[in-house]
Amino acid sequence: MTTVQLLIVALSAIVLVGVLGAFVIAYRRSESPGRQARSWRAGLSRETRKADRSALATPMVVQPAEPDAVPEMEVTEAVATAAEDAAEEESEEPVAAMQAVEVMRVEELSPQEAGVNRRQFFTRALGATFGAFVGLNGISYLAFLWPRLSGGFGSDIDVGAIADLQTEVVLNDGSILPKFVPEARAYIVPFAESDISRSQFEGSGVVAGGLTALFQRCVHLGCRVPWCDASQGFECPCHGSKYNYVGEYEAGPAPRNLDRFAVEDQNGRLIVKTGTIIQSARAIAKTVQYPQGPSCIALNSPTAV
Ligand code: FES
Repeated sequence: MTTVQLLIVALSAIVLVGVLGAFVIAYRRSESPGRQARSWRAGLSRETRKADRSALATPMVVQPAEPDAVPEMEVTEAVATAAEDAAEEESEEPVAAMQAVEVMRVEELSPQEAGVNRRQFFTRALGATFGAFVGLNGISYLAFLWPRLSGGFGSDIDVGAIADLQTEVVLNDGSILPKFVPEARAYIVPFAESDISRSQFEGSGVVAGGLTALFQRCVHLGCRVPWCDASQGFECPCHGSKYNYVGEYEAGPAPRNLDRFAVEDQNGRLIVKTGTIIQSARAIAKTVQYPQGPSCIALNSPTAV
């Protein structure tokens, strides 16, 4: 797994933990209405709860009105008559003299009647966002695997007919011109069958049909290593590492030879197995000569050797 892939996975994990945390907080804040009711009722005094229960049990209480204080006055005949008339009227309409006290009635609504409140809306929105995040991550991981399934880098790649490749990489004057295959991220270069026994690659499966496949990446810090036609080798412009045309270490800070891939001759076609990168230590005895001319980076890189 490359550094970029590791960073993406780490970033995804951090975001995932953050979303999970937010989800848990939102969930705990949206406790059930029954639990919320229990918690605020617990804060009331016993007398208050008792009064509340009795009030709820009595839907309507009707209390007689207190008779207004009657000022003392001298009772004359006329006043006595008026009082008698008023008493008669009161006895005919007793309800009008009563005072009604309404008690507020609290009715619990069903979830269907109450509809979706704001907290439920945000909780559901957060859940939907989390689901979308997980789905997108799944698609991203599938995209990472897709090249392996479809034949891109990471799979076995057919880079062409061996006979054609042999004539492409060795020119008429005997000089070498590697063929770069972007899909395999590899240079195809010649590697004489007669040289295998005196190299460190004997029996490693990296040579087939007189050809080998070198990974394009410099083993020092990962720059793409270009070909230098003049010196007939690979020379890294980043810090000056140099390799001969079969990828053996020659100079610079690189810790080993260029990495390479296993190759196979399948019915005359060269198959590069890019799923496994093969490393090898710096070659002590070189298989081919280097340099065969002036270096491309000798004057440009202060660390070049
Ligand atoms: S990356 Fe090639 S020499 Fe440093």
